[in-house]
Amino acid sequence: MSIITDLTRMWLTRSIKPFTFRNEYDQVLPFEDCPDLGLYVHIPFCRTLCGFCPYCKEVYDPERMDRYLDALIREIHLVGGQYPGKKRATSLYFGGGTPALAAGRLKEVLDALNQHFAITQGIGVELHPDDVTVPILSTLRDAGVTKLSIGVQSFQEKYQRLLGRAPVDRRAMSQALAQVPFETVSMDLIFALPGQTLEDLRADVDAAFQTGGNHMAIYPFIDFTFTSSGIPPMGKGAKRALLDQITRYCLEKGYVRTSIWTFSSGNTSYSSMTRDNFLGFGCSAATLLARQFKINTFSVDQYRGRLDGGALPTALTLRFTLRQRMVYYLFWAAYSTRVNARAFEAFFGVPLKKMYGFELWLAKRLGFVTQRDGVYEMTLKGAFYYHYYENFYTLSYIDRMWGLMGRQAFPDGMEL
Ligand SMILES: C[S@@+](CC[C@H](N)C(=O)[O-])C[C@H]1O[C@@H](n2cnc3c(N)ncnc32)[C@H](O)[C@@H]1O
Ligand code: SF4
Repeated sequence: MSIITDLTRMWLTRSIKPFTFRNEYDQVLPFEDCPDLGLYVHIPFCRTLCGFCPYCKEVYDPERMDRYLDALIREIHLVGGQYPGKKRATSLYFGGGTPALAAGRLKEVLDALNQHFAITQGIGVELHPDDVTVPILSTLRDAGVTKLSIGVQSFQEKYQRLLGRAPVDRRAMSQALAQVPFETVSMDLIFALPGQTLEDLRADVDAAFQTGGNHMAIYPFIDFTFTSSGIPPMGKGAKRALLDQITRYCLEKGYVRTSIWTFSSGNTSYSSMTRDNFLGFGCSAATLLARQFKINTFSVDQYRGRLDGGALPTALTLRFTLRQRMVYYLFWAAYSTRVNARAFEAFFGVPLKKMYGFELWLAKRLGFVTQRDGVYEMTLKGAFYYHYYENFYTLSYIDRMWGLMGRQAFPDGMEL
């Protein structure tokens, strides 16, 4: 499996050098000159844990949450206070876990962030369907939240049961969303669950937009090796057919594709991942800067331990070669289904064509992209293959890294 990602990496980085993550870190992070900085905050607590979910989380305990939030605020000040003045940040996204469990102290976390960053494009929070209630939504809105992402997974009881979750109360959800409106309401759906048909998925897509959503993410179900879902993944052929059909359905309905996995009914977009640079705070949070990627420990206790001693909770750091950084940049730019040659040149100081002229030519010849005005736009065919490739990437990179980080608080290192 990883042979595909290994070969692609070698080809595109023009080197056999793997991505090497070391057990080391910079206490002062070089983000002062990073443009378009995104911010991410991780809250690793949930009421109950879902077997299929690969994210860093543990069962909610109010006291552990409180102590975690104290450490989180310490990390924000430690990193944010490294440079004088307020640094401009595009967006802020709270993910988890279940960030709503911290709603009572969200304002405190936001105050800490606002001391160091001027956030220009809104604040997003990930929600469990059970959190879509008027009191929680009002608390979030009063704290300044503008975007929601609700982990519906499916509106159908049979799939909720398969995923080990309770059915979603659509009426209660749409009433709460109507009463406390937000600029963006995104619904997460999972597709390629066993037995799932096009009709099932169409019904879910329709329900997402009829229940108060104006944006939606359809994630392919991924059977991570370290989770305990017991859900058999769908066969390749059936998955491809389903993906093609549901993509066409969304486009026919007039929804705009805002990234490989997301569609919007208007001009809204929602993504925590497609930033050129981001700072991550909290357990398991990743940070991506001009020449480095770093990831915090997945252990809540060790996270607090480091911060109690005034040190950053970084577990692993990857220092990119220039070509590696370019590949990383292009991978995530392609996720938004377009690559802007001018933005690439502004970021790296070299023309995209000079670095990847042959690959772009080939991608055009194969019908994967079209080009207009310096913007390479992915075709439906290109998006399918990217989707497919992304699956290999997730299993070879994310699965291995998160699996290791879940087992060891501070691993010696790893090569991908
Ligand atoms: C951090 S999770 C969940 C957010 C929220 N706590 C909830 O449970 O609704 C973000 C999203 O990742 C997606 N996801 C989680 N596990 C997945 C898996 N094994 N395969 C595909 N998507 C997954 C789900 O759609 C989920 O809503
Ligand atoms: S899917 Fe959501 S509620 Fe379930 S374990 Fe993952 S983060 Fe927690």
